[in-house]
Amino acid sequence: MKILVAGGAGYIGSHTCVTLLSAGHELVVVDNFANSEAGVLKKIEKISGVAPKFYKADVRDGGLLQKIFDEFKPEAVVHFAGLKVVGESRERPLRYYECNVGGSISLFNVMARNNVKTIVFSSTAAVYGNAKMLPVDETSPVDPLTPYGHGKAMIERMLADISAGDPSWRVAALRYFNPVGAHNSGLIGEHHGGTPSNLLPNIALVADGKLGELKVYGGDFQTPDGTGVRDYIHVVDLAEGHMAALNYLAKRHKGMVTINLGTGKGHSVLETVKVFERVSGKKIPYKIEARREGDIAESVASVSKAKELLGWQTKLGLEEMCRDLWRRQTLNSD
Ligand code: NAD
Ligand code: WQD
Repeated sequence: MKILVAGGAGYIGSHTCVTLLSAGHELVVVDNFANSEAGVLKKIEKISGVAPKFYKADVRDGGLLQKIFDEFKPEAVVHFAGLKVVGESRERPLRYYECNVGGSISLFNVMARNNVKTIVFSSTAAVYGNAKMLPVDETSPVDPLTPYGHGKAMIERMLADISAGDPSWRVAALRYFNPVGAHNSGLIGEHHGGTPSNLLPNIALVADGKLGELKVYGGDFQTPDGTGVRDYIHVVDLAEGHMAALNYLAKRHKGMVTINLGTGKGHSVLETVKVFERVSGKKIPYKIEARREGDIAESVASVSKAKELLGWQTKLGLEEMCRDLWRRQTLNSD
């Protein structure tokens, strides 16, 4: 299939490109490098043996998108393009709405104009906010806590309205839980413009001696050891989830479907630190600090819908996530 991958130079996008190219799909990557670098395209080629076509473009530039659609004639879109730092979205909400919501409107308009109606969209567990029932299933209320999460919920809403108005659209909104790890080649991984805000990248920096100690945000949550529990998912499993969603849309599905992508298993901060210490052989000093604003105690996905509809489930556990992140960290350490 000919697939346009918006934001394909980014963390999840680059891993998904590898999976899709390795399966024989033809890709065009569209990225403005807001949070990625041109070098990743060579790495994608090195791993998959195929170079994706590439355009440096902002998805908000409808004119340029139209040219890309004219030249490449995609049959489907995977839409990763957007900003993702939750804390920053509180400080700069307009930047987030403009890029994430504005960019999506621009992309969906060009798709509609060109009769390209199959899309896999990167949504997030953040749309659930502080869910009352765990594991969280897809019927759980959408009640985000941040501008980032509200933006993603708005995009889901738009896709629901678009596919209700024209049922020939085939839409999968994938709600990712906590993507971590890297490709086992160590060639691609997550790019951090500044200091990372997520747990695993900070653990890797401490293990590598780049950061003195890990700040553990909160030791008094209602969880077995008092630290936050999350459903971490290996980025390579996540990439395969996108291919499964595309196959599902192509073969069976019309209209919109919303699916959680996670492992269904939760791990606390301290448990994750222990696993990382074991795979890296490094000590990870940490200090329990105050809770971070807006953090919830626990987030774990119900994964039965993904299994049932997509025939997909994760294969890799926390051990592999830590091992592959550590390999990436050490190969890229200076
Ligand atoms: P990322 O920042 O690594 O990748 C996003 C890519 O989109 C980057 O290459 C960036 O340069 C590009 N981009 C941003 N704005 C653009 C624009 N206007 N036009 C063109 N390109 C643009 O992030 P990621 O971790 O790979 O996340 C991919 C998607 O998944 C995002 O939409 C994010 O919100 C969503 N998501 C991520 C996580 C996570 O924890 N990483 C969790 C849930 C959902
Ligand atoms: C995990 C746990 C922290 C850093 C975020 C977004 C979510 C999604 C994934 C985009 C929590 C604790 C963290 C640190 C710590 N992204 N922690 N010390 O907040 O669950 O999810 O990324 O869609 O929307 O909110 O992930 O990795 O930041 O935190 O103790 O230095 O680790 O308190 O319990 P989070 P995270």
